[in-house]
Amino acid sequence: MKKKKSTKPAVQTAESAVKRAAGREQDIIVGEKVSYDYITYDDDGNEESRYRAVDGVDLEIEEGDFIAILGHNGSGKSTLAKQINALLLPSEGMLIVDGMDTRSEDQVWKIRQSAGMVFQNPDNQIIGTVVDEDVAFGPENLGVEKEEIWKRVEKSLRSVGMWEYRSHSPNRLSGGQKQRVAIAGVVAMQPKCIVLDEPTAMLDPVGRSEVLETVLELNRTQKVTILLITHYMEEVIRADHVIVMDEGKVVMQGTPREIFSRVEELRRLRLDVPQVTELAYELRKEGLDIRPGILTIEELTMELRRIRAAARGTAANEPALRKR
Ligand SMILES: Nc1ncnc2c1ncn2[C@@H]1O[C@H](COP(=O)(O)OP(=O)(O)OP(=O)(O)O)[C@@H](O)[C@H]1O
Ligand SMILES: [Mg+2]
Repeated sequence: MKKKKSTKPAVQTAESAVKRAAGREQDIIVGEKVSYDYITYDDDGNEESRYRAVDGVDLEIEEGDFIAILGHNGSGKSTLAKQINALLLPSEGMLIVDGMDTRSEDQVWKIRQSAGMVFQNPDNQIIGTVVDEDVAFGPENLGVEKEEIWKRVEKSLRSVGMWEYRSHSPNRLSGGQKQRVAIAGVVAMQPKCIVLDEPTAMLDPVGRSEVLETVLELNRTQKVTILLITHYMEEVIRADHVIVMDEGKVVMQGTPREIFSRVEELRRLRLDVPQVTELAYELRKEGLDIRPGILTIEELTMELRRIRAAARGTAANEPALRKR
């Protein structure tokens, strides 16, 4: 994820955007002024209402990045995610995924193969009655050869730590395990990018951590680009970059540390900050010399140690205090 370097003309042709995206080979997703309107129609087919759920979003995501997307309910995160997977097409602007314009109908399946999607509820995503068969569905639909399918199934299930459950019924698995099977199903299609829309929202803390570690592992070892929509701060702080959405717009972006240094702004956007970040922020407000953007307990402990050592040093030089 990079900041935009130049202002671009408002009107673009799809072709020019594809060319630019192709020119920046490191970018897997390029969005320019992406907007999406939900439209309702009356019985006669006339437009009745229009609601802009995504509003002029510019995106530039490099292959191999791990991006977290944050935003209050209704800020447009899912609507943006579905556009990356070509489940929805931009009402305005354009979105290029792996060099393909999401509006090109003949490329839809290639786009969905490049950018797989994982949703909140694993029960809605698992269709097979046996784990390995479920994972095989994706590559089967792509017309992959039998032998290759089973190679991919094994590799995917191993990569999410579910290989030993290959012969189990998905019904018997925990939420976290089911979600890892759903992720394996996407991985088996060998996507360059996986968009996960609150994949841990229905899971207990153990399941959440299993899924997060699985996704991090895919990102680190297989360089799969990850876009993770989440409300959980412990997931956000593991990302390389954070995008914050509000009312359909990208309102903040940066590293987790940069984002979480802006506590007041996040509060105004009705977003949480990690508890330890909040504590550090309040202590800093009380006058303690703690650096902004503390993300972990270890970081806060180190800061407090440093402050204590500095205070001792000062005390040692104070004649009044030295006597005691
Ligand atoms: N099918 C739809 N028809 C009309 N409006 C919709 C539809 N789906 C979503 N919206 C509206 O679009 C806006 C953005 O919705 P979206 O689901 O993208 O938000 P979100 O950030 O994913 O929210 P959440 O955190 O609750 O999942 C919301 O105001 C929502 O009510
Ligand atoms: Mg959503």
